[in-house]
Amino acid sequence: MTLRSILLHPDPRLKKPCEPIARITPEIETLAADMLATMYDAPGVGLAAPQIGVLSRLFVMDCVKDPEAEPQPLVMVNPEITWGSEGLSTYEEGCLSIPDQYADVTRPAEVRVKWLGLDGKTHEREFDGLWATCAQHEIDHLDGRLFIDYLSPMKRQMITRKMVKLKRDRARA
Ligand code: NI
Repeated sequence: MTLRSILLHPDPRLKKPCEPIARITPEIETLAADMLATMYDAPGVGLAAPQIGVLSRLFVMDCVKDPEAEPQPLVMVNPEITWGSEGLSTYEEGCLSIPDQYADVTRPAEVRVKWLGLDGKTHEREFDGLWATCAQHEIDHLDGRLFIDYLSPMKRQMITRKMVKLKRDRARA
């Protein structure tokens, strides 16, 4: 398992729609294992392939935050939202590509997601709570969309300016 480095916003690779994955190969299994390790190490509850510079439709998530509880890693290839609830929920979101910045985003409270698993089978399941928010946030990444795209232009520019400065400081260090 290899920890991959996580791209920081702004980066053109975070703005691109990703390509579907044709089939599960050993390379895809390795990619998923690396992404889970990278996500747990960060630590975070979700990580999408474009965040490590791979423009393929795959993300990993595990919204079990209690370190004492059993982990519930999920790997979703070519995920699609097939249903979203009318009821909305607002969650203070963050992103491993936008460290230390958080903002309220409102999304459907429940979603049904269809995806290809590493077992080569199609799965479909409903999610609520943090799992629903996280799945939508990660699928957005696969379409080149970040949570800050839901904010006002002013708020988004403020965060982007902070990130430009952070990247400059890190490059100097
Ligand atoms: Ni994110």
